[in-house]
Amino acid sequence: MNTLDNKRIVLGVSGSIAAYKAPDIVRRLIDLGADVRVIITEGGREFVSELSLQTVSKNKVHNNLWDKDAELAMGHIELAKWADVIIIAPASANTIAKICHGKADDLLSTVILATKAIIMIAPSMNQQMYASKAMNENLRILEARGVVNIEPGSGEQACGDIGEGRLAEPIEIAHQAANLFINNLLIGKKVLITLGGTIEAIDPVRFISNNSSGKMGMALANACVNSGAKVTMIIGSISTQIEKRAKAIFVTSADDMYEAVMDNIENQDLFISCAAVADFKPAKVSQNKIKNNTNLESIILSKNKDILESVCKLNSKPICIGFAAETENLISNATEKLINKKCDAIVVNDVSNREFGLNSDNNEVHFITSKKTEKIDKNSKQIIAEKLINKIVKYFF
Ligand code: PMT
Repeated sequence: MNTLDNKRIVLGVSGSIAAYKAPDIVRRLIDLGADVRVIITEGGREFVSELSLQTVSKNKVHNNLWDKDAELAMGHIELAKWADVIIIAPASANTIAKICHGKADDLLSTVILATKAIIMIAPSMNQQMYASKAMNENLRILEARGVVNIEPGSGEQACGDIGEGRLAEPIEIAHQAANLFINNLLIGKKVLITLGGTIEAIDPVRFISNNSSGKMGMALANACVNSGAKVTMIIGSISTQIEKRAKAIFVTSADDMYEAVMDNIENQDLFISCAAVADFKPAKVSQNKIKNNTNLESIILSKNKDILESVCKLNSKPICIGFAAETENLISNATEKLINKKCDAIVVNDVSNREFGLNSDNNEVHFITSKKTEKIDKNSKQIIAEKLINKIVKYFF
């Protein structure tokens, strides 16, 4: 099943009678797993209430480029950066003409101009307007720029005319958005991914762990499934939703993760080691809870097995992609790990920056192979994951 899990969608509602269907579009997008924010134009407000849109999206509706309060919360540039996809539905003739000519005279057109997100438009207008030369040329220009046209349906229109120009059905709009993320890049391939943090027990109640949320690894699992792969996830401690289309194996410690990886590595084509595996564990785990009056001054640690390095040493090893969590000298430290662990590529992220990396929805990474280093600018973990899969396929498959 196609999903929009972890996808951030801005729905732009412009002035067309079909705007009354916008709450249903929001609901269909949310049903597929998307997080939805709505921008409504002045024309759109004539046909649908902001309250309905706010209620179904569970977020404030954005309507004004000059709203100081909104700018303080999520400003228009931030909204443009936040979105993975912007869907204008319904897209009126006027809004289509405005984005075609790069105008920025209201919030929606300004966000469109300021975004790197995929843009989809679902035209909705009178059949004669839709058939006009101007509209056809505008649509051709937008298509040439990569804007995805969700074609309108045909039939009786609100004005009584019969013809093409009726807004596509809400469910169809949601499915076309989900289809954007489907491809055949990893069709027939088997992928094993580790994700989340490991938990190393000190005694029955205390442990050593880290802040990994599992979001980066889960986004990779989602991107691999969307690319046609059969995915197995070895999951440590996480605080994110599970990709239901992949096989999930839950583990606690680094030792458990090692066992689970080794049990499942045979016949895998790709191994992605995204887990934040503890390098050390307490050398001895106390069977009973250590009393607080114990004179405990230090805990002796012993080294955990390196899972990634062990997989890279296998005779019939899959393509191995490591992650490097660094706080300084990102490229040189990660390159050292690439060489020492003998993996095919390593993805380095800066975990000292709270805006991305560990336990954040966003990331910014460098993809490093023995030949090349390529930066992937800050974006949602989902988009970073999709870009990484594109690179992995380009270089190794
Ligand atoms: O989970 P999130 O909150 O979304 O955050 C994502 C992340 C920051 C955890 C992720 O992007 C990341 O960087 N994962 C690797 C964390 C890490 O352990 O990095 P490292 O530099 O210590 O290890 C290098 C590589 O060796 C990693 O691929 C790691 O999985 C692997 N390793 C490390 C130690 C060990 N004993 N076994 C291993 O396999």
